[in-house]
Amino acid sequence: MNKISQLISLLGGTGFVAERLKIQPSAISNWKKLNKIPSGKREAILELSSHLDINIEDFLPNKIFHDIKVKMLLIICGGIASYKSLEIIRLIKKTDIELDVVMTKSAQKFITPMLVTSLNEKKCFTDLFSIEDETKMNHIKLARKPDIILVAPATANIMAKLANGLADDLASTILLASFSKIILAPSMNPIMWSNLATRENHKKLLDRGIEFIEPNTGDMACGEKGTGRLQEPKLIVEYILSYICKNQYLENQFKDISILITAGPTIENIDPIRFVSNKSSGKQGFAIASELTRRGAKVTLITGPVNIPFPNCESVIKVTTAQEMFDSVTQRLPTDVLICSAAVADWKFIPKTSSNKKIDINNKIKKDNKNLLFETKQNPDILGTIAKSNLRPKIVIGFSAETNNIKKNAHSKLISKNVDLIIANDVSNDKVFGGDFNKVCLIDKNNCEEWEKQSKNSVAFNLANKINDLLTNFNQ
Ligand code: C5P
Repeated sequence: MNKISQLISLLGGTGFVAERLKIQPSAISNWKKLNKIPSGKREAILELSSHLDINIEDFLPNKIFHDIKVKMLLIICGGIASYKSLEIIRLIKKTDIELDVVMTKSAQKFITPMLVTSLNEKKCFTDLFSIEDETKMNHIKLARKPDIILVAPATANIMAKLANGLADDLASTILLASFSKIILAPSMNPIMWSNLATRENHKKLLDRGIEFIEPNTGDMACGEKGTGRLQEPKLIVEYILSYICKNQYLENQFKDISILITAGPTIENIDPIRFVSNKSSGKQGFAIASELTRRGAKVTLITGPVNIPFPNCESVIKVTTAQEMFDSVTQRLPTDVLICSAAVADWKFIPKTSSNKKIDINNKIKKDNKNLLFETKQNPDILGTIAKSNLRPKIVIGFSAETNNIKKNAHSKLISKNVDLIIANDVSNDKVFGGDFNKVCLIDKNNCEEWEKQSKNSVAFNLANKINDLLTNFNQ
């Protein structure tokens, strides 16, 4: 019996797995024949196996999932648990993951680079100022190459350095210069772990999207009891594999789905110098564009003037006025999903004199216009117009920034603009605009879901899950 046949029988047999995954039993028979599981089913298989006590070592040697071509960097810091990183290397070597290893100076007091090099069958990097390595700008290469950086054991020192942006050795410099997913598996004395400084660093790093494989509680090598023991290598490797599977699943979640997103403010000129706008930074809309792109969607982001870097999505269209934003969105229909997160200026302001005399807006309005008045002209409602049109996307989502009666106003917008979901937030305290955190409430026809305060990236992550549910319901 091959490994996949063994796995399927452990999971409850062909019929059971087919039923749970809602696929034909013949597909499972095929997997067994090929001794491979298609990458699209990784997440589902992983979820099924999560309830069982399966020894991952029984399945790793056969590399059960195809096309995992992940590059990982393991950073070993110095602590009693450093020796456990050797077991992590041994387990990772049994997978398709391409592994590089960096050791800090203190890690070398516990285990040697020679041992790591022979286990990994590859040079182990230790020095930021190595002439041989640095002619190739190795610290930048090592920072950019991996998809995942695992720091195990992660000491209180490396957490503090990363939280504060210190870069005084190879390990900390790589962590600072990297775009990769960073996962820390801490190991330290319980008092150090619970120290307020470490608690603050832990929180800071979590808020920046760094993941933790939290330490165990129990007897420590130093004789004390408490939380701070490095997780078992087998569990650390399982965590990494599960992260890779989830990530690869997510990367295809919105494959072939087109998404239009409006973001940022719009600007309405009064004359060549003055304008009317609002405080939107574009951060939330950009975070949503990033997350949906990461999950495989074809994202077109239409943004007003902002001062933040553009996300890496299919296309970014820059507009200034509400009318330009409206035209740009309508030109790009049809689309599967429309998300209007832009804070569109509701009016154009047309200057007039009190005696209704015309003012030339192509030139600067002079201060001697004593009784200057403004006539307002309503801008087009992008969200409402498209949601009620023949080209209405499958899913239409709006935002609602309010200072009072938040839920009531958001619900009225949901109905009057004919949208599927309104994301409402309270902007009365002025901390939302430009900030990195958001506290939102999701309102649809039947429910009002209050989400706890979280980073705008985290709102984007959770909203992507919600959109996936809405699309699944739509297609049923
Ligand atoms: O401004 P208001 O509170 O009505 O905004 C609610 C939603 O409508 C937001 O999603 C916003 O992007 C959208 N909107 C729009 N066009 C406008 C005004 C608002 O698309 N002219």
